[in-house]
Amino acid sequence: MPFPPAFLDELTARNPIEDVVGQYVSLKRSGSNLFGLCPFHGEKTASFSVAPDKGIYYCFGCHKGGSVINFQMEIEGLSYPDAVRALAKRAGMEVPEDEQYQSRYRQQERLWALHKEAARYFHSQLYAPVGASALQYALGRGMSKSTLTKFGIGYAPDSWSGLADALRKKGYTDQELRDSGLVTVSKKNGNLFDRFRDRLMFPIIDVRGNVIGFGGRIMSDKDKSAAKYLNSPETLIFNKRKNLFALNFAKKSKLGYFILVEGYMDAIALHQYGFDCAVASLGTALTEDGAALLSRYTDQVVLIYDGDAAGQNATQRAIPILERAGLQVKVLRMRDAKDPDEFLKKFGADRFKLLLEESSNRVEYQLAAILKKYDLRDDDQKVKYLQESAELISSLSSSVQREVYAGRVAEAAKISMDAMKLEVNRAFKRRLAREKKKQEKIDLAPARALQPKSRSIRYDNIKSAMAEEMLLALVLQEPALLDRTEGLTPEMFSSQLLGRVFSQLSQRHKEGLEVALSGLTDFTSEEISHIAGLLQRQQGPVSEQALLDCVRTIQREYQSGRVETEDDLLALRNRMKERKGIKA
Ligand code: UTP
Ligand code: MN
Repeated sequence: MPFPPAFLDELTARNPIEDVVGQYVSLKRSGSNLFGLCPFHGEKTASFSVAPDKGIYYCFGCHKGGSVINFQMEIEGLSYPDAVRALAKRAGMEVPEDEQYQSRYRQQERLWALHKEAARYFHSQLYAPVGASALQYALGRGMSKSTLTKFGIGYAPDSWSGLADALRKKGYTDQELRDSGLVTVSKKNGNLFDRFRDRLMFPIIDVRGNVIGFGGRIMSDKDKSAAKYLNSPETLIFNKRKNLFALNFAKKSKLGYFILVEGYMDAIALHQYGFDCAVASLGTALTEDGAALLSRYTDQVVLIYDGDAAGQNATQRAIPILERAGLQVKVLRMRDAKDPDEFLKKFGADRFKLLLEESSNRVEYQLAAILKKYDLRDDDQKVKYLQESAELISSLSSSVQREVYAGRVAEAAKISMDAMKLEVNRAFKRRLAREKKKQEKIDLAPARALQPKSRSIRYDNIKSAMAEEMLLALVLQEPALLDRTEGLTPEMFSSQLLGRVFSQLSQRHKEGLEVALSGLTDFTSEEISHIAGLLQRQQGPVSEQALLDCVRTIQREYQSGRVETEDDLLALRNRMKERKGIKA
């Protein structure tokens, strides 16, 4: 059972979207819309819009959008019911609680509490007699006592049910133990046993301060069969792609940039040596989600991955992911040590600071990587080096940058600046030709250009879908127009998604409820974003004539798509041939 519709209507009315968004984004009015910098992806020009009259937000850059409730979910990383609760609190409203939601929320809260309890247990074991060698290992790796406390480092004893027993004593059920992922079920006899045994434990804490999972390290590198690090599995509260280790501390850093490293130990060492802006991804490569999370707190990231080949490959992959999230990327290449942890211990914070200062921007880094591939004494290889470097340089948008880097490459290859410039120009033209071809392809297939941005939503009949989009925009602005849609049914919509929206809006109108995006139920955030996007794109005047035109187009397309007679079939085949003709 969802929240009562009337309650949700009042909730949205009492939480004007421009006020709620305004708490996070500074908005400037432009016409009937407000614009600001998108909080969901880094950007320099404001493509994030709020339409108070429609009660929606939409980003023309990253295509996220929806109602005030969707915004609350997205910005705070909340589930739907939690976002509703937060908004209710903001407006001083009482929430009619629902059994199912309540139980899921309670389940989450129980898991957070369980994890906190587990962290306490592990931490206490580190100082118990069974933890003596673990403590020694931790100290031996240079972690100070205060670091152990700050990060809540612990020890999972070498026992089958030490944690399970401790948690049971605190009142957690076997089901809850299993849901936490900290305990697994034996395939042989169905017994529960601790997932982490004889490992140094690193609690993973989210930005709100909840312990959501653990990483555990074996303490002897002799046993090659055991994974060095074991991490919590995905659970109701833990998604490793969407969290970063130490972000709970780094988000408070005053340094103005973030350092992204590969390992738990690297992040911890950096914090201990005063670089309190360090974070690590959680046993996976950096993801788009991870980059988006970072971009909420900073606009500059220094990448410091391990000096080995794997680390350098990971660096090359991470650069575009970070840049797409709007982050400015610098790369520090580890030298004289395999990772930051080792470097700090060998050389100290001051030497590391020097390294940081000379960390290069990503172009320098990538040019160096190209240089390493070729032997410039060989003429063939030299040409290849020049071409590949020119390709990279030609992609830079600043002419000053192009000039500077072209100069460096020319010098390295001992050719004249003029010759290098020629090479860059050639690369630039090749790029232009490629882009043009791409654009032509798009122009030739207008239907494809009008397709929704999200891959899971498809329009089969573009003509009808355009009318359907327009119609929805019209009735959302002027609900009374729904009275003029008699004869139009959801089945006639060529897009199932838009038909569902129409169906719910009509129903609400009949019941005298608010006709608004916030009233829609059972749509994914991708679908809601898509609908918000089409609302923001349709800016035409609202008129009954416009609506009637839409109704007629949808009905006509529906009729012509129906196959009832042999003639219909022939007509359909011809139309399909025509459509294919356009594409070819
Ligand atoms: P590294 O092997 O580089 O670890 O793995 P590290 O941080 O240098 O560890 P120490 O110094 O040997 O203790 C980097 C990261 O990759 C993930 C972990 O998140 C680790 O911090 N990893 C590594 C795993 O998830 N599983 C593994 O078996 C190994
Ligand atoms: Mn290491």
